Amino acid sequence: DKYKIAVIPGDGIGNEVMEAAIYVLNALNINFDYVYGEAGDECLEKNGTALPDETLDIIRNSDACLFGAAGETAADVIVKIRQEMKMFANLRPVKSYPNTNSLSDNIDFMIVRENTEGLYIAGEESYTDEGAVARRIITREAEKRIIEYAFKYAKENNKSKVTGVHKANVLKKSDGLFKDVFYEVAKRYPEIATEDYYVDATAMYLITKPESFDVIVTTNLFGDILSDEGAGLVGGLGLIPSANIGEDAALFEPVHGSAPDIAGQGKANPIAMMLSAIMMLRYLGENEAANRFDGAILKVLNEADILTGDLGGSATTMELAEEVKNNL
Ligand code: NAI
Ligand code: MG
Repeated sequence: DKYKIAVIPGDGIGNEVMEAAIYVLNALNINFDYVYGEAGDECLEKNGTALPDETLDIIRNSDACLFGAAGETAADVIVKIRQEMKMFANLRPVKSYPNTNSLSDNIDFMIVRENTEGLYIAGEESYTDEGAVARRIITREAEKRIIEYAFKYAKENNKSKVTGVHKANVLKKSDGLFKDVFYEVAKRYPEIATEDYYVDATAMYLITKPESFDVIVTTNLFGDILSDEGAGLVGGLGLIPSANIGEDAALFEPVHGSAPDIAGQGKANPIAMMLSAIMMLRYLGENEAANRFDGAILKVLNEADILTGDLGGSATTMELAEEVKNNL
């Protein structure tokens, strides 16, 4: 087989949206060998651990991993996978689709977030006599790696500009270093335009001129916050995919969780999972298949006949999948 794909449906609607995404993937005539792994709340109940070593091995031995959603154990599971697989980049596309709650019709940018350091390092937070303290760590090596990833991504995906986001006016040493490295790397990509903004200004510009962004690269905490702002810009959890990329492992998952309120009812919107699968196709270099899949979703959203409840329709998860497949 051509590609070995680790498939971890997880809990709740994770199972339903995964089935739908794989249904369409299977119509693309690419040779996928799916290896299913367990993780999440149900797995914990059954096996005494939310993330068995066996599942980690499946991810390790695959070309890419599709992850549905986990329940209460989600944070532990995802954080552990990221750490074990050294997934340093978190990618969140922000793109407007028709007939959704997007603030504007022409939004299409990628947020590239550093995912191993900054303010979110386990063990770097502790209590003190006065209260508590968290250390924010910025290393040249990790920031250079994420900035280089962002420029490479821009080049390979025909994006014309990279925006570096920081707070170097206040955090003069740590974010000063980020800004310096940003322009060092930028020199090697003269064909790509660059700009840098303070994070607070960026939070405003995402609302006032979201069409102006192409690729945003930033540190861990800022990326976390701006990513969710981006999700709000283009409306709706059922539509937002993400990727975690490491040197030799990559995991693709919708941003939403297991949605216990609608689980098991066929109501889940599978588009976020499908867009995650499309990110995987691009990661694997299967750009033509990715374009076909993306185009089919665009058609379904444009026609707006077959939509799930969150988008104002009454179709089931698999009815929407069928419609996407028919539009490939
Ligand atoms: P959630 O994303 O599961 O649901 C929030 C709301 O959005 C719910 O009303 C849900 O019905 C709706 N929703 C989410 N995805 C949808 C979809 N594809 N189609 C239609 N409607 C959708 O977040 P919530 O409720 O905060 O968490 C529920 C569980 O999921 C928790 O146990 C949480 O820990 C877990 N979770 C897991 C994540 C992951 O696996 N990466 C991420 C976020 C939460
Ligand atoms: Mg977040």
